[in-house]
Amino acid sequence: MKTPASLLLAAVLAASALPTWAQQPAASAAAPAAAAAPGASGLTVAPPQASSSAPAPGPGAATPSATAPNAVAPATAGVKVDVAAGEAKYTAVCAACHGAAGNSGTPANPRLSQQHDAYIVKQLQEFKSGKRPNPIMQGFASQLSEQDMKNVAAYLGTQKAKTGFATDKELVSLGEKIYRGGIQNRQIPACAGCHSPNGAGVPAQYPRLSGQHAAYTGSQLVAFRDGIRKNSPQMSQIAAKLNDREIRAVADYIAGLR
Ligand code: HEC
Ligand code: HEC
Repeated sequence: MKTPASLLLAAVLAASALPTWAQQPAASAAAPAAAAAPGASGLTVAPPQASSSAPAPGPGAATPSATAPNAVAPATAGVKVDVAAGEAKYTAVCAACHGAAGNSGTPANPRLSQQHDAYIVKQLQEFKSGKRPNPIMQGFASQLSEQDMKNVAAYLGTQKAKTGFATDKELVSLGEKIYRGGIQNRQIPACAGCHSPNGAGVPAQYPRLSGQHAAYTGSQLVAFRDGIRKNSPQMSQIAAKLNDREIRAVADYIAGLR
């Protein structure tokens, strides 16, 4: 499947092979927005590559954490993404539930800050189409165009997530065991294998999980398991093998991951 993210990646890679951004017709047609990319005026700068999921060959690759919240901007610079419009839309419509800058304080409403833009766009498309059924979000996503979705997702990707905490002392070590090592004799894979050891995920396929409200994470695992959320065969298969206690444990551990 050609996802927008793979197209973006292709655009970034294509652009980086050229001497300047300006010489790529698509980028220049995409207009002044491209000028927002750091290094757009430079000739040999590496930053656009640092934003892709491919390992960045440049010498600057050693400090990803400092730049992570901004990493989306260059990746989306090749298409017309308007982060300011995304912020305006988010603040007017979404912040009431998902919190300022995506840092929801309400356990049932997921935190969205620092989530990968491609994942957010996918979820919004699937709420809109009903592939991920949710009456609340279907309503809000239906009011968004593809462009709005990209704008809002780009904005959220640049917002720094606040850290959370695990709260269940009794379960947290079970949660850690599942997250880091899975449960071998029941073919339950380590969550870390896809979502990365610190829960930051891997753009664009594997969403960020760290710091998410345990109640939300738990509800999604139950929804995958019970066939209510059907937009990821991988996650349905994994969740099908987890019992309630294991779900509570791993969700609690994830809340404290950072
Ligand atoms: C009335 C409250 C409310 C509003 C307003 C709202 N949301 Fe949501 N949103 C929710 C709830 C509740 C969920 C969890 C749905 C579920 O359980 O599947 C959710 C889920 C999501 C998710 C999925 C997150 C994930 O980690 O998979 C995204 C993305 C999202 N909302 C984006 C938005 C955007 C963008 C807007 C504004 C256009 C918005 N929401 C407005 C309540 C709201
Ligand atoms: C083989 C790769 C893989 C493994 C292993 C994996 N996941 Fe996932 N997970 C995914 C993918 C892909 C998605 C995105 C689904 C989508 O696009 O809606 C996802 C989504 C999720 C979500 C939904 C996030 C949200 O914001 O709504 C949760 C929660 C989750 N995974 C928890 C786990 C846990 C807990 C484990 C370990 C028991 C685990 N995952 C193991 C691939 C994986």
